[in-house]
Amino acid sequence: MKVRQDVMDHLVFLRKAINYHNYRYYVLDDPEISDAAYDRLLRELEEIEKRYPGTVTPDSPTQRVGAAPLKAFKTVRHSLPMLSLSNCFTKEEVTEFDSRIKRFLKITGAVEYIAEAKLDGVAVELVYEKGKFVLGSTRGDGTHGEEVTVNLKTIRSIPLELLPADGVTIPDYVEVRGEVFLRKREFAFLNEKRGERGEPLFSNPRNAAAGSLRQLDPRITATRPLDIFCHGIGEASGLPRNTHWDILHSFSQLGLKVNPLRYRCSHIDEVIDCYEAIQEKRSELNYEIDGVVIKVNDCRLQESLGTISRSPRWATAYKFEAHQETTTIKDIIVQVGRTGALTPVAVMEPVKVGGVEVCRATLHNQDEIDKKDIRIGDTVVVQRAGDVIPEVITIVASKRTGKEQRFAMPLQCPECGADVVKLKGEAVYRCLGLSCPAQLKESIKHFASKGAMDIDGLGDKLVDQLVSSGLVTDVADLYFLTVTDLEPLERMAATSAHNLIAAIEKSKSSGLEKLVYALGIRHVGAHTAQVLVNNLGSMENILHADEHALLTVRDVGPEVARSIIEFCKQEANLTTISRLEKAGVSYTPRERKTTEDLNGITFVFTGALKRFTREEAKQIVEERGGKVSSSISGKTGYLVAGESPGSKVEKAREHGVAVISENEFNKLVAPDH
Ligand code: IVH
Repeated sequence: MKVRQDVMDHLVFLRKAINYHNYRYYVLDDPEISDAAYDRLLRELEEIEKRYPGTVTPDSPTQRVGAAPLKAFKTVRHSLPMLSLSNCFTKEEVTEFDSRIKRFLKITGAVEYIAEAKLDGVAVELVYEKGKFVLGSTRGDGTHGEEVTVNLKTIRSIPLELLPADGVTIPDYVEVRGEVFLRKREFAFLNEKRGERGEPLFSNPRNAAAGSLRQLDPRITATRPLDIFCHGIGEASGLPRNTHWDILHSFSQLGLKVNPLRYRCSHIDEVIDCYEAIQEKRSELNYEIDGVVIKVNDCRLQESLGTISRSPRWATAYKFEAHQETTTIKDIIVQVGRTGALTPVAVMEPVKVGGVEVCRATLHNQDEIDKKDIRIGDTVVVQRAGDVIPEVITIVASKRTGKEQRFAMPLQCPECGADVVKLKGEAVYRCLGLSCPAQLKESIKHFASKGAMDIDGLGDKLVDQLVSSGLVTDVADLYFLTVTDLEPLERMAATSAHNLIAAIEKSKSSGLEKLVYALGIRHVGAHTAQVLVNNLGSMENILHADEHALLTVRDVGPEVARSIIEFCKQEANLTTISRLEKAGVSYTPRERKTTEDLNGITFVFTGALKRFTREEAKQIVEERGGKVSSSISGKTGYLVAGESPGSKVEKAREHGVAVISENEFNKLVAPDH
């Protein structure tokens, strides 16, 4: 069927628009249009393609999901081998790396380096021909990898088509190398679901990313929220290759996602400072990094240096100290969570892991204990990764004495004595006690925790007493407590009772986002709560949203939607929610901050702002106690980069100053706008 020209034009327009908004959302994390508007564009495109099947091309944004399963992966030969990196563990080794380079190049002056975060993910290569993504592969053995194009297409931060940009022409051909990874939160969520379904757990985000990418059925990959950072180049034509820094900059301009955690260092000593700066940021990052990659910036020098035994001479990985130690398991106890799930926990001889004392580690579930054959009395290797709960990695078999004892899940709940069951298809054991105090205690602790209603002074011991004395039977009861109720409790003097009541009172104005999170709906973390409130606006709307309405909220998938609906169906939950409202807990989204919340923070602006004039922006900052300056220094708090920003962005990065977009600035000063 011949397709009319105006339909074709519209189709091209829609694809361009969708690609652009996809880029704003997934690469820049700075959307310009609402989720609903984005979905409308996508649906419109789907309809046209359905009506005229001949118009579907492999690079259409509709082709990100749903390709048919493969029988096997094809092998791809990398035109340039994908190398590995040598390692350094100490400052001395890094200095030696620098000296080696200078000796090899026969130079005495300083060499310029780029220091960038080393992602703990899966290495891939993306081939773009005339700007279109045509082939994607894994690293494999370095020379041959597996073709995973359809799987990579499901990753929204991989552009199907490079974006035209000022100052960079779309290269004829380019092989982009990068690291595919899974963020920590998504990893925890994926493992939680796998545990519930009785599937083996992934031992770390890297394995989870690798397992997700190497799926013969791309529809499975599509359900895993993988992400990418591009960090290198293979063969290319039509792309200037002067320095690594410029290559990354061109990548970024072409719409590829590049990690902002990178620094240009004019001397090896600066590299060491940057290593420390990156290490300090490590625990705040929502993805795993295991070191810093140091690369010679000048591409000609890279070429002269060449490779030695499968690693480039011009780069090395300066690894973080592994947060692993050995200790012994004294006991295995069982904790009952908010949902009644029983989690076995190893009680260990205290040991310092990466500077933090650890005496407990999660063992996840019985299947994991059996798989790793963990017994009481074993010597084990424990690991602490970022802010993830400490974990037992493996036992040290050579330390077995024969006196170790196997562990078995109790048949009765250790807290309330009710029966424990393992539901079909689940790996977790659950307590069936409807009024299990452990479940109630955990939900109160969650409700009062920092990221939730943040009730200062409501510690674990106090929660135990409130529950066992019968004073609190659901979270709403907290708001009806009086000083007279509290005073008779252990270690509760009049002042602390008054303080606690004041803290409870204060928590009433935490705002709807915190409240939705505090309710402890399964699968609704702080981020999802925020997204729900942003999109649905009120508690009323959240309670009454049907599956369709919930699914239109980006980041809410079928499982989360079902969990919300299930929660809202429970009479007891609805009663709690209405009692919270009666008690005066605020149901309005957080109010615009009008306090001096920017006190002492210096802002610098660069590039053109869309929403404000410079004068207005200055006024907003100053009204809140902040300052505006025209130049970057170590004291600068934020650099706000508008359109076509100048050299300040680079300068800010060099000083380790946070660079934020106009939109982020807007959120900072007016979170409800
Ligand atoms: S550049 C010549 N940069 O680490 C090899 N690699 O241990 C060039 N990796 O296979 C690699 N983050 O998959 C580079 N910012 C980064 C990286 C990075 C993670 C991985 C990469 C490589 C492995 C080597």
